[in-house]
Amino acid sequence: MGTRVSEARPGAFPALALGALRVDPPVVLAPMAGVTNAPFRSLCRRFGAGLTVSEMITARALLERNRKTLQLAGFGPEEQPRSLQLYGVDPQTLGEAVALLVGEGRVDHVDLNFGCPVRKVTRRGGGAAIPLKPRLLRKIARAAVACSGGIPVSMKLRMGIDASHLTYLEAGRIAEGEGCAAVTLHARTAAELYAGEAHWEAIARLKAEVHSIPVLGNGDILEAQDALHMMQRTGCDGVVVGRGCLGRPWLFRELAAVFAGRPPEPPPTLGGVKAVMSEHAALLADFFGERAGLRSFRKHATWYTKGFPHSARMRAALIQVSTLTELQGALAEIDDRVRFPPAALRLPRGKSSGTQRVALPEGYLEELEDDTAPAREALEPVSGG
Ligand SMILES: Cc1cc2nc3c(=O)[nH]c(=O)nc-3n(C[C@H](O)[C@H](O)[C@H](O)COP(=O)(O)O)c2cc1C
Repeated sequence: MGTRVSEARPGAFPALALGALRVDPPVVLAPMAGVTNAPFRSLCRRFGAGLTVSEMITARALLERNRKTLQLAGFGPEEQPRSLQLYGVDPQTLGEAVALLVGEGRVDHVDLNFGCPVRKVTRRGGGAAIPLKPRLLRKIARAAVACSGGIPVSMKLRMGIDASHLTYLEAGRIAEGEGCAAVTLHARTAAELYAGEAHWEAIARLKAEVHSIPVLGNGDILEAQDALHMMQRTGCDGVVVGRGCLGRPWLFRELAAVFAGRPPEPPPTLGGVKAVMSEHAALLADFFGERAGLRSFRKHATWYTKGFPHSARMRAALIQVSTLTELQGALAEIDDRVRFPPAALRLPRGKSSGTQRVALPEGYLEELEDDTAPAREALEPVSGG
């Protein structure tokens, strides 16, 4: 999807209706485990994201009121709308988790994760394995919507397990039929993980199949023009951006500009990147405490400096800091004037290469009409989509 389209017609895309919520611009920060916590969301929101989704929260851990889970399920006072992604495999547990979130007034939108490709999840019939069982998927969606008290519930999907087991079209129909407010497609199979190019044509196919609710496209938006290109090529109603904004949250400013019909601002110089790093680290320190916050900042430091000259040296210094004062010291050593290297825009960030053979429970493919939830073990918190 790397081709840039200079003929992209900007400003032609309206806000997205997510139930009663308005997402403007129709540009969403993708749920990313270990990344899209309240600090990162607030940064992306400030740069112009229309909606920012939490990292994946496990339904059972939420019901058990796990302390860490509750922290990650928290929102900043200014966050609006509050959008949370839930992971679960059991209709009852998921329904109860949605009821808890809604009953306690904790969220304004719930996204259901049916795309997790992680082995220890699919091997037990969770994540991307669930849409293989349409009756189970339907029961889960029905339970979540029934307990939602009217707030929008959406589904996030992959195309299927692998090229021989595509599930997204039927899953999209189920989402629509069960009253979901939107469906997002990461246009890869679970077997493909994050490798190769996303199959945007699948987004177009889903859009042709699902008529009454918005379809959001996801996969390989690294520059603002990619989003316009995806909207035009697929007819999708909005875009979801993951890896492209890692170490580049200002991508949302560029996206907001092109969706408003303006040319995107150029990326910041290294001095500008340093200012965003400071802001991000301070938000993390505030949310997690200084030490834990700066520990979680390390991976971001790697992404922020990626592709710049001397990035290895900068990274080595930045990942050693454990206080905000030390961070300021390390940043002071870095030259402000360096321009953002154009080649850095399309460098892989976060997950990238490798494919897999998707592990499923023994005999799983022989009982696809079954609608019983997989065993409890599948509810362990994991990351991915
Ligand atoms: C570090 C990381 C963590 C992720 N965690 C989740 C998650 O918790 N839930 C989910 O639905 N998708 C998750 N994803 C997948 C993204 O939401 C998105 O679908 C995927 O990265 C493709 O979009 P992109 O090409 O814009 O990155 C994760 C991706 C990355 C890179």
